[in-house]
Amino acid sequence: MRDLFLLDPEVCFLNHGSYGACPAEVFAAYQHWQRQLEWQPVAFMAPKHLAALNRGVRQALAAELGVAPEDLVGMVNATEALNIVLLGLDLKPGDEIVTTDHEYAAMDKTLAVLCARTGARVRQVTVPLPLASETAFTDTVVGAFTPRTRVLFLSHITSPTALRLPLERAVAEARARGILTVIDGAHGPGQGALDLGTIGADAYAGNCHKWLLAPKGAALLHVRPEHQAGILPRVFSHGWEQDGSAPFGDSAFLDRLEFQGTRDRAAWFAVPAALEFRQAHDWDAVIAGCSALVTSTAERIAALSGYPLLSSVEFRAPQMVTLELPPGDTAALHDRLLDEFGIEIPVVDWAGRRFVRLSVQGYTTQADCDRLVAALGAVFGWSKD
Ligand SMILES: Cc1ncc(COP(=O)(O)O)c(C=O)c1O
Repeated sequence: MRDLFLLDPEVCFLNHGSYGACPAEVFAAYQHWQRQLEWQPVAFMAPKHLAALNRGVRQALAAELGVAPEDLVGMVNATEALNIVLLGLDLKPGDEIVTTDHEYAAMDKTLAVLCARTGARVRQVTVPLPLASETAFTDTVVGAFTPRTRVLFLSHITSPTALRLPLERAVAEARARGILTVIDGAHGPGQGALDLGTIGADAYAGNCHKWLLAPKGAALLHVRPEHQAGILPRVFSHGWEQDGSAPFGDSAFLDRLEFQGTRDRAAWFAVPAALEFRQAHDWDAVIAGCSALVTSTAERIAALSGYPLLSSVEFRAPQMVTLELPPGDTAALHDRLLDEFGIEIPVVDWAGRRFVRLSVQGYTTQADCDRLVAALGAVFGWSKD
């Protein structure tokens, strides 16, 4: 399967999680859309044409995610989507945002900007580790709610620790209290089945360019209908009408976010090609194989290192695992693994401890994982696998 991707064959690439990797076939679809734009820019950018293209992508994706296509809008990345939702919130001094200690560092910065602008504050809960109980997680989150809580902000799959947070009940409890639920699903789409209807969040931002295999620059934002009028674009352009009418497409919500000056949206238009690629290659079976390889590799490394796993299998990301290592310089270890062993894998500092995060995608082999185990064994002097 490695030959179907465009990755450097010299590198043992175990970091799908950071930026994804796009199959050659899907990348060709991406370039097709770029060429279409260059071929006849005026016809391509005509609002009717763009609206139809966007509608097609939304429909394909909505079928995959269990939601209505008109509640879904294309974005460049999860960061953009979450900034649009969070920085548009009308919070007051003293209002609280409940979140966890596993959030993506860049989103913590967005929350800090929101707090600086509004006087709101973040209440960060500590997720109980190892995460092995949905009840423990939900109780921790719900226990942090106060009468001032306005927002619950959670990662679906956490970046530093690769946990799949069991967030459905926490989301429901929050919504029952009138707390807005915003989910950072940067790693959500494509890593196993994803049903946004079941999660039920008010807003869910997900990347298509990570696990869904789309080219970089393709993401989605899902917003429940009752909140769509309150979602303001970060860029006000042709799609904006003060009165909430829709000049081009299916709704004001969509027009505001889809018509924002001259942009290359080829990555978004290539999302259906990514979905077709997955279907043609029986991707559910591929994910099951990846998941088994993640589990066995994680168990081998944990046995050698002596550090416990961060969660039981059910609360781990299907295709990623974060493993603790002895303390030390993270950047130096990353560079050594790459330079000496040819392995590209993120080494992260989290909670003052050092970890590696292993990603397993369809192109990852048992031999790749063996190489990682051997390299870590050599670096840390682990006697034998
Ligand atoms: C949990 C989480 N949120 C947000 C992001 C940001 O994604 P993007 O750079 O595509 O906006 C990432 C990226 O790895 C992430 O892991």
